[in-house]
Amino acid sequence: MKFTEPAGTNPIDRMTVVGRAQDRIDGPRKTTGTAPYAYERHADAPDAAYGWIIGAAIAKGRIRSIDLDDARGAPGVLGIVTAGNAGPLAKGNFNTAKLLGGPEVDHYHQVIAIVVAKTFEQARAAAGLVRVDYDRASGSFDLDSALKTAPLVGGDSNEGNKAPAADRVGDFEKAFAAAPVTLDAAYTTPDHSHAMMEPFASTAMWKGDELHIWTSNQMIDWGRGDLAKTLGIAKDKIRFMSPYVGGGFGGKLFLRADAIMAALAARDVGRAVKVAMQRPLMANNSTHRPATRQRIRIGAAKDGTIQAIAHESGSGDLPGGGPETAVNQTQLLYAGPNRLTAMRLAVLNLPEGNSMRAPGEAPGMMALEIAMDEMAEKLGMDPVAFRVKNDTQVDPQKPDRRFSQRQLVRCLEEGAQRFGWSRRHAKPGQVRDGRWLVGMGMAAAFRNHINRRSGARVTLQSDGRVLVETDMTDIGTGSYTIIAQTAAEMMGVGLDRVEVRLGDSAYPVSAGSGGQFGAANATAGVYAACVKLREAVAQTLGFNSADIAFAGGQVSGGNRSVPLRDAAKSAPLTAEDKIEFGDLGKTFQLSTFGSHFVEVGVDAYTGVVRLRRMLAVCAAGRILNPKAARSQVIGAMTMGVGSALMEELAVDTRFGFFVNHDLAGYEVPVHADIPHQEVIFLEEADDKANPMKAKGVGELGLCGVGAAVANAVYNATGVRVRDYPLTLEKHL
Ligand code: MOS
Repeated sequence: MKFTEPAGTNPIDRMTVVGRAQDRIDGPRKTTGTAPYAYERHADAPDAAYGWIIGAAIAKGRIRSIDLDDARGAPGVLGIVTAGNAGPLAKGNFNTAKLLGGPEVDHYHQVIAIVVAKTFEQARAAAGLVRVDYDRASGSFDLDSALKTAPLVGGDSNEGNKAPAADRVGDFEKAFAAAPVTLDAAYTTPDHSHAMMEPFASTAMWKGDELHIWTSNQMIDWGRGDLAKTLGIAKDKIRFMSPYVGGGFGGKLFLRADAIMAALAARDVGRAVKVAMQRPLMANNSTHRPATRQRIRIGAAKDGTIQAIAHESGSGDLPGGGPETAVNQTQLLYAGPNRLTAMRLAVLNLPEGNSMRAPGEAPGMMALEIAMDEMAEKLGMDPVAFRVKNDTQVDPQKPDRRFSQRQLVRCLEEGAQRFGWSRRHAKPGQVRDGRWLVGMGMAAAFRNHINRRSGARVTLQSDGRVLVETDMTDIGTGSYTIIAQTAAEMMGVGLDRVEVRLGDSAYPVSAGSGGQFGAANATAGVYAACVKLREAVAQTLGFNSADIAFAGGQVSGGNRSVPLRDAAKSAPLTAEDKIEFGDLGKTFQLSTFGSHFVEVGVDAYTGVVRLRRMLAVCAAGRILNPKAARSQVIGAMTMGVGSALMEELAVDTRFGFFVNHDLAGYEVPVHADIPHQEVIFLEEADDKANPMKAKGVGELGLCGVGAAVANAVYNATGVRVRDYPLTLEKHL
């Protein structure tokens, strides 16, 4: 089905199952430990051996020698794979550095070997006997110095976030120089780690020349393609499975080393091998959100009308990598006739920078929305009113292009009203509660919606149950549930009559999970397949009118009503289709909007920041499952608190690695840090997005939160911090 016109009325509009708060159907399996994750395929891959990964101990250089003799002789050892004995390997399309390094080393903790043994402990012990000598080369590890000579570079990631190297509208410099009120400020965000709960983990097993692999991954088809390319085998020789994923945040968008190494090791030792990347390797072995150095300039008239706005961002990556597109949102969020965005990319020999939840907008909004707060203060305006004043219903760079839907103003005003924003003191440092300085802050939320082709297969079984198969993943987001809701709505059956199978390359290729594009596109693909199945059902049951209804397990039209299951009496009925997109997403700008309001207390003596209340208001098209969507948003808000107050990969600029590479040193919020969160979804249905009339929401919940926290801290203390995270010493 090609989506080329705004969606008309369709069966989803009934909203009898879709749009309802529904518990996750995979929840009981996950909470009882019966959902098998990639490392737990005991039944499918019995007798699996254990792999232990060895990461490079230098950031850049060469392996001079690697001595495996003692390790090979250690108890239980079945094999050791290195670049020296793995055979020819190509590099996949998505990763910048090779996943198995050697003899050249591209970054710290790049995999250089895997030791395979009968038990986990034997593999670990033997790995300690591998001796590696390196020739260390000097590298570029310091972002600030590397940016001094860094060129302008555009960005267009696979995941959908893009911005040109430099973009100009009007004459920014002239308008900025002439503006009566101006701000010119620099902001920094550090490197962030995905720090998901489930590590990179895989179980691999060869059946002849066919590879079966269970691996924790967000994008089945990308991973399968890159694995085939790396190993030099045909894609259809790989069955790539990821039905349960314990968090990804973008770290599992692309094939990772655990999968390659499990596949190579299983081939080497002739039996199934499982590999879970050791936690202390994860931060340096894998990708991360790159640090940014941002400069924002805003010039406005005295009444608060923005006349000039510029956002420049610099980041770094390995040779051949790309920039963090932190200027994305500044192209679209606020009006203003004179505009400039630009990105610089420095070469660094730190681990690879890449997508992490809401790449681009997440760190970009952390800067832009502090700048908006600072500007409002300079103008003597309320920060909500300043944003409302500069709303735009058209793309500010292309005024003939409208947003498909944009309720930013309502998000701001409704949030202000619900949060009790009018009680905020505009002058900072005025409110005291015992030892706590209390402040309120807010920010807009913005994230683009991305269309992606997505396929599904639906089968009406002889008992009347509906089976949905798609390679879509559920990374803890609720895909199983919203897909079941979609099929139930379309086929007119209860949710308990639908079975959903996900995360398997044996099923049609879906949008996958990333860029907050998963929910809307994957369900739209299921919608398309269900439209076809309805047609097949109608034909089988002898309805000749298109005007038939599917409800309560019955198919009705004219004066006839027939049980749905009758259509599959003689044989199951299967239909497959995909949603594809025409130019509607180019004619209209598809984006999601929101607002974040935060109240904090800052300890007047220690500078410790404690959250008191958080509110998010989101306008993101139709909400398919308010409970799952709320969970996504409160998770995102929590991540936003982490980025505001805690998260930072500390760079060792001498040796080129992230020092705090485990969950003890890389701090993220826990439940006790987050006392109260509320989420409101505005009523919306975006008919220009897809037939579901839905858009993404999971990353919207993150974009802006960090700045809202920072603005609240400023309101509490009067100390403006532009350097994330806002650790306590910065407010003293
Ligand atoms: Mo993501 S970074 O959208 O998986």
